[in-house]
Amino acid sequence: MRVRDAVVVITGASSGIGRATALAFADKGAAVVLAARREEALAEVAAECAQRGVQALVVPTDVTDPVAVEALGRRAAERFGRIDVWVNNAAVTVFGPFEETPLQDIRRVLDVNVMGYVHGARTALPYLREQGQGVLVNVSSIVGVVSQPYTHAYVMAKFAIRALSASLRQELRLTGRAGCTSAPSYRRPSTPRCSSTGPTTPVARRSRCRRCTRRSALPVPSSTWSAAPGERSSSGRQGG
Ligand SMILES: NC(=O)c1ccc[n+]([C@@H]2O[C@H](COP(=O)([O-])OP(=O)(O)OC[C@H]3O[C@@H](n4cnc5c(N)ncnc54)[C@H](OP(=O)(O)O)[C@@H]3O)[C@@H](O)[C@H]2O)c1
Repeated sequence: MRVRDAVVVITGASSGIGRATALAFADKGAAVVLAARREEALAEVAAECAQRGVQALVVPTDVTDPVAVEALGRRAAERFGRIDVWVNNAAVTVFGPFEETPLQDIRRVLDVNVMGYVHGARTALPYLREQGQGVLVNVSSIVGVVSQPYTHAYVMAKFAIRALSASLRQELRLTGRAGCTSAPSYRRPSTPRCSSTGPTTPVARRSRCRRCTRRSALPVPSSTWSAAPGERSSSGRQGG
């Protein structure tokens, strides 16, 4: 898939890896649809994307609300006519000993980090299926592979995202498609643009970090939704 002129929806685009992903796509000429709760922060990211010469649509969205996430997909499709890439990235965490962590905080983490991705995938997949091509990226984490203490809800969520992605990938393959997970390990707080240690997208995975020269050290499984080999997509391009 060509990234130039692609339409990319990113949740959690108001900061961190989501923001960096939006700017990386904008650098490559993609139109970006920016979702998160803080409209002002999204507007700042949109302005940075616009400076790179691409269109950026801000859609304030709480990913725990399935209706709002559906509306996000609809706004993107109405404005740009299609969705080529959907990046489920928005996440929160809670730190503390397991028995002292309030139940409501654990529920909140699972709601944002798991159900938010479920809402995103259920919104994105019908568009990708109809188009016959596209990419769904679920941002997991190295702690979705190797657990750590005092962040139980977050670790559970990231394991769940890998499980969701694996199951979805199998389901998509049964219908002749392919699917995905991205597992960043660590982002330096002072280098929000660095994607070399936290690749979230096919673009980010391939690109070198601007501030260092390392490529991703992680064997990140990629996730694409594309026409099956030999199947011609609706746009006439051959998928793989
Ligand atoms: N940072 C790392 O080292 C690291 C390592 C491994 C994996 N990851 C993963 O990478 C992703 C991004 O992490 P990050 O470090 O960039 O996080 P971050 O800077 O804290 O950004 C989180 C984003 O999620 C958004 N968000 C939170 N709750 C939301 C909700 N209910 N609805 C919509 N958006 C919501 C926030 O925006 P608003 O507050 O405006 O809603 C923000 O844009 C996450 O999936 C994280 O698990 C990060």
